[in-house]
Amino acid sequence: MAEDLVIIGAGGFGRETLDVVEAVNAAAPQPVWNVVGVVDDAPSATNLQRLEARRTPHVGTVADLLAGGRRPSYVVGIGSPVVRRTLAERLDAGGLVAATLVHPAASLGSRVDVGPGSVICAGARVTTNVTLGRHVHLNPNVTVGHDTTLGSFVSVNPAASISGDCTIEDGVLVGVGAVVLNQLTVGPGAVVGGAACVVKDVPAHAVVKGVPAR
Ligand SMILES: CC(C)(COP(=O)(O)OP(=O)(O)OC[C@H]1O[C@@H](n2cnc3c(N)ncnc32)[C@H](O)[C@@H]1OP(=O)(O)O)[C@@H](O)C(=O)NCCC(=O)NCCS
Repeated sequence: MAEDLVIIGAGGFGRETLDVVEAVNAAAPQPVWNVVGVVDDAPSATNLQRLEARRTPHVGTVADLLAGGRRPSYVVGIGSPVVRRTLAERLDAGGLVAATLVHPAASLGSRVDVGPGSVICAGARVTTNVTLGRHVHLNPNVTVGHDTTLGSFVSVNPAASISGDCTIEDGVLVGVGAVVLNQLTVGPGAVVGGAACVVKDVPAHAVVKGVPAR
């Protein structure tokens, strides 16, 4: 029987996550997930209309979810690593269990570990011997090369490329179309700007941009 699932976040990535769920269900012999709805503390009117257009209910706030009797699986569809971590910690403490979602049009190679709460979108390519921590987001068309480790709460935005033998620490955001060259480390909480090319290690909590990124 399909398992109940709530998606946290009515914004763009929340609804892209809904696409991943729908694709997973469509590819399976029977639906894997029963989407109870989307949880968002303050959805915009536009995002509520967008949910309504796809017949997915907004089912209240995180506090409502935690106060209710139901304990569905959850996934946080919010791109900010900091916000995602805060919400996941609240939901875990409330006894909810994080779901892991891999779009059927993503490809995972050999010896790939994907942590709970992670969302891997269509077109993402993860090669061999790669570890993804908890609540990692790989957006559409991201590549992650061999022997690379991504910590928890990492967001890799669309079409970014993480090369082989890299270490991307907890809470890093890699911007759209950015490149991290091989054997480099991006420290915890750092941000790599869109279209940047990282050519040397990035310190913790730094924001780097440009080519080469600095
Ligand atoms: C790098 C980044 C984090 C900087 O954010 P910020 O500190 O708020 O930067 P600002 O918008 O204040 O811009 C500061 C300066 O950096 C420049 N800049 C901003 N982002 C840049 C980027 N990615 N590459 C090169 N220069 C950039 C701005 O033009 C501005 O230059 P100026 O001072 O000469 O006018 C952000 O711009 C970025 O690239 N985020 C990733 C976004 C992303 O992936 N979006 C896709 C979501 S799916």
